[in-house]
Amino acid sequence: MKRIDSNKSRRSFIKKTVLGTALVSSSPLLFSRTYNQRLLMESRSYASTAFAANDNINLALIGSGIQGIYDTNSALRVPGVKLVATCDLYEGRLDRAKELWGNDIFVTRDYREILDRKDVDAVIIATPDHWHKKISIEALNSGKAVYCEKPMVQKFDEGQEIIETQKKTGKVMQVGSQGMSSLGNEKAKQLYEDGAIGQIVMLDMFNDRYSAEGAWQYPIPADANPDTIDFDTFLGHAPRVPYELVRFFRWRNYQDYGTGVAGDLFVHAFSTLNFILSSNGPNKALSTGGLRYWKDGRDVPDVTMTLYDYPETKTHAAFNAAFRVNFIAGNGGGGGFRLVGTEGEMQVSSNSVKLIRSKLDMKPGDYALIAYTEEIQKKIRAKYDQINAGERSSDLNIGETIYEAPTDYKGSHYDHFYNFFQGIRGEKKIIEDPTFGLRAAGAALLANESYNQGKPVKWDPESMSLIQ
Ligand SMILES: NC(=O)c1ccc[n+]([C@@H]2O[C@H](COP(=O)([O-])OP(=O)(O)OC[C@H]3O[C@@H](n4cnc5c(N)ncnc54)[C@H](O)[C@@H]3O)[C@@H](O)[C@H]2O)c1
Repeated sequence: MKRIDSNKSRRSFIKKTVLGTALVSSSPLLFSRTYNQRLLMESRSYASTAFAANDNINLALIGSGIQGIYDTNSALRVPGVKLVATCDLYEGRLDRAKELWGNDIFVTRDYREILDRKDVDAVIIATPDHWHKKISIEALNSGKAVYCEKPMVQKFDEGQEIIETQKKTGKVMQVGSQGMSSLGNEKAKQLYEDGAIGQIVMLDMFNDRYSAEGAWQYPIPADANPDTIDFDTFLGHAPRVPYELVRFFRWRNYQDYGTGVAGDLFVHAFSTLNFILSSNGPNKALSTGGLRYWKDGRDVPDVTMTLYDYPETKTHAAFNAAFRVNFIAGNGGGGGFRLVGTEGEMQVSSNSVKLIRSKLDMKPGDYALIAYTEEIQKKIRAKYDQINAGERSSDLNIGETIYEAPTDYKGSHYDHFYNFFQGIRGEKKIIEDPTFGLRAAGAALLANESYNQGKPVKWDPESMSLIQ
């Protein structure tokens, strides 16, 4: 699969268009320069879009549910990619696949028929979490490149075998935390490495949801029955239970198939955080939470709060991270991801980074000065004014900058698949390989481990193993 023509791919950001005017403060206060500006990140450029008909990457989808459809639609936007087959355990989803992608695609309920096909180069695995390991390993062993949805694994001990199989087969594998491929995440990484926030001291992540869908109450179709659904296969290695549609369509609600909010949502944040900091992740977690609202038979909490310790490494100081998810957010929901450092903070999303640079002013305020005589207060103020006057001469770049993706940005999902397909063509290093994927999933699973054990748990992020 060779590209016919190529341009050099560029991923650089430059401060291109200034939407707001930089403000230079004439204030005689602490710092000489403040600014408040919006900057557009530069559009990404991608390699040539021309491919010969026999130069396509033939793709198949295994698990043609919600995310499988979003994945496939993003993948098919990348030039030189063709969908040839789809697999699912529910007949209605195979019908939907044909509706979306044409009657020519091969459809089956048995993913092994996909892996046996010689015309399939790559597979997307978008099944429930408890199937990720088995299908990934079998796909790699069948010579397919694998795009496996996050979390890469459902259990800690599933990761090493995937890593080893990928190395042994030499086949490309990408894990699906698409956010880390985004312009926003790349910009945040560059800013962090440039020292924009100084030394990191904490990370604050939250995700508040206020919808039934956000709490995984997905609809159950009227035609679902034992004939249209292969419930036995769905169970896989999970404990045998009687046929139950809620388990099939709302599998995230059960520990047997999913990974709770941590595996569903924390894992994205870990991918982003580890990517920005070039980190292998935390070494300790303490989690609490509970089932507060969605008492619908689920066995995972709908409120989860977890505190993590990141140890000092060559790329970052030791710091603390707080992760919080709430599925009954009275305020209508929202989310945030904020890196706080000694010289400022960054609020990071896929499409933007808000950088707030600051420098701590040591000058005391009126609160503490009240306890001194007027004369002493004057002397203290004068002393700090003198120190600050010295600081004024330097350019401290205090203020707020918002970096925004351009309107023609194709988005992180496109970029993640673009990286995957370029990896298959041998033209790019995979951004989220199985080792990265296990570190992100492992860190997330620590939250469940601590919650279930009711105490802090430790993890070795280098060797990717639980410390008992
Ligand atoms: N990257 C993201 O932003 C993102 C977003 C949502 C979901 N996900 C991940 O994608 C995966 C799928 O989630 P979803 O929301 O699409 O779930 P879903 O229930 O909508 O779809 C899963 C599909 O897999 C099918 N399936 C189950 N076992 C199978 C098997 N053995 N062989 C073939 N098909 C099988 C089911 O029939 C179902 O249609 C999960 O791992 C989830 O964590 C990732």
